[in-house]
Amino acid sequence: MQKEKSELSMDLEQLYQFDGENDPKILVSVCGHIFDVSENKRLYGPGKGYAFTAGHDITFMLAKMSLSEKDLNRVHFQLSDQEKDVLVSWILSYLSKYPVVGKVKGLEDLCEEEWTRGQEKFAKRETPNLPFSSQKIGKEQPTDSTQTDSGEKAKKPWFSWLGGFLK
Ligand code: HEM
Repeated sequence: MQKEKSELSMDLEQLYQFDGENDPKILVSVCGHIFDVSENKRLYGPGKGYAFTAGHDITFMLAKMSLSEKDLNRVHFQLSDQEKDVLVSWILSYLSKYPVVGKVKGLEDLCEEEWTRGQEKFAKRETPNLPFSSQKIGKEQPTDSTQTDSGEKAKKPWFSWLGGFLK
């Protein structure tokens, strides 16, 4: 099992601050466990494809394969068995790439079962069963071809419109 390194403890509102803009540290949480994704600025840095997830709990978004902001920070939800399996794959993927640095207060029971399953797969060095997501940081990232000069906030990936079909 992966040990949580520095054991940060914060509530969801405090997590919002770690979006790479207010603080250079970029954090996301899955099942209330906080990953430090700061090293992967090409995905999560300000203006990058997945910046909209930075500083948020992304559990529900991952389980649903959604790119909708309304699916961030969801703390009350039910998942089908298939969605739970998808979530476990994502947990395995994040565990394989990023350090776990703490927990979000109040989200302890969000999806402990899936978290444990993800940890077990990680311990067995299984490979995540996801359509994309490389294990290495430093590969090409999706860009937003419709990007305008106006927005200073993160743009979604160019394929975000697909999210609706994948739900
Ligand atoms: C046509 C659809 C999609 C394509 C082509 C695509 C492509 C990619 C690529 C190339 C990466 C970078 C992988 C890496 O180098 O590690 C990535 C990362 C990611 N994608 Fe997508 N994506 C798609 C749809 C989605 C959807 C629907 C979701 C919803 C959950 C999603 C969530 C993510 C997340 C969370 C990451 C960051 C993963 C990490 O930090 O390891 N993507 N995607």
